[in-house]
Amino acid sequence: MGRGRYPARLNVAPPPPDLAARYLHDWPGRALYLHPERFPPLSSPGLFGNTHPLELDIGCATGDLVLALAAAHPETNYVGVDIVAKPLWRAVARAAHAGLSNVRFIHADARLIYRTVPDQALRAAYVHFPAPLLRNRQRNQLLISADLLVQMERCLAPGGLLSVMTDHAEVYAELLNLLPVAPGLRLVEPHTWSAGLTAVVTSHYYRRWEARGRQIWRAELVRCEGSDCAPPGER
Ligand SMILES: C[S@@+](CC[C@H](N)C(=O)[O-])C[C@H]1O[C@@H](n2cnc3c(N)ncnc32)[C@H](O)[C@@H]1O
Repeated sequence: MGRGRYPARLNVAPPPPDLAARYLHDWPGRALYLHPERFPPLSSPGLFGNTHPLELDIGCATGDLVLALAAAHPETNYVGVDIVAKPLWRAVARAAHAGLSNVRFIHADARLIYRTVPDQALRAAYVHFPAPLLRNRQRNQLLISADLLVQMERCLAPGGLLSVMTDHAEVYAELLNLLPVAPGLRLVEPHTWSAGLTAVVTSHYYRRWEARGRQIWRAELVRCEGSDCAPPGER
């Protein structure tokens, strides 16, 4: 089994109905594709009934990142999306155990949920350790895509952050290659990477690849406007 599918092997039961109702949404792909308007907006008012800032983890697996961030920042809302259900069941159990009220999980194909996100609804989005390209014919299944960048340019509020991490040089190269499709996203200099995020990033994959001595490629993109989008020397 490919490593990208490891979460499906988890030995975990579905959450009881009360916890599922509180923390977990199941958004089937066909319905999302045909009728996105039938789903609640992926926004703080839509999912939490408040107007707190919202951050989205795309391919969240067992929720390491959003759970850590949600515990550290109770005034911010966090949503984790994954296409595989079992890791989300574990994430729900962990959210309930921690008594978190500012986190939700969505079982869905992330590539179909972007259209349910209102313009500028996100303060940050994370794509950490997405599965790499295995075969060329799987290119349209990649999370790092032109559509991701175009959608994040629309969904991030001004000054909002898109964080990408990968242990695959080719995934990182693909990200850089695609950047021209979203001129409203600007790469930030490594010395200004979010210190808070660096401290909290302790996901399963980060620890796993770091322990094996693999290089971790990282990019932060900021949602910029006007002259702020120019490279540092030209602003
Ligand atoms: C290698 S894991 C990384 C998990 C987590 N981001 C981390 O840093 O530990 C990749 C995750 O992306 C999920 N994934 C892959 N394609 C997806 C898609 N189209 N929509 C949502 N999740 C997806 C997989 O199920 C898996 O849980």
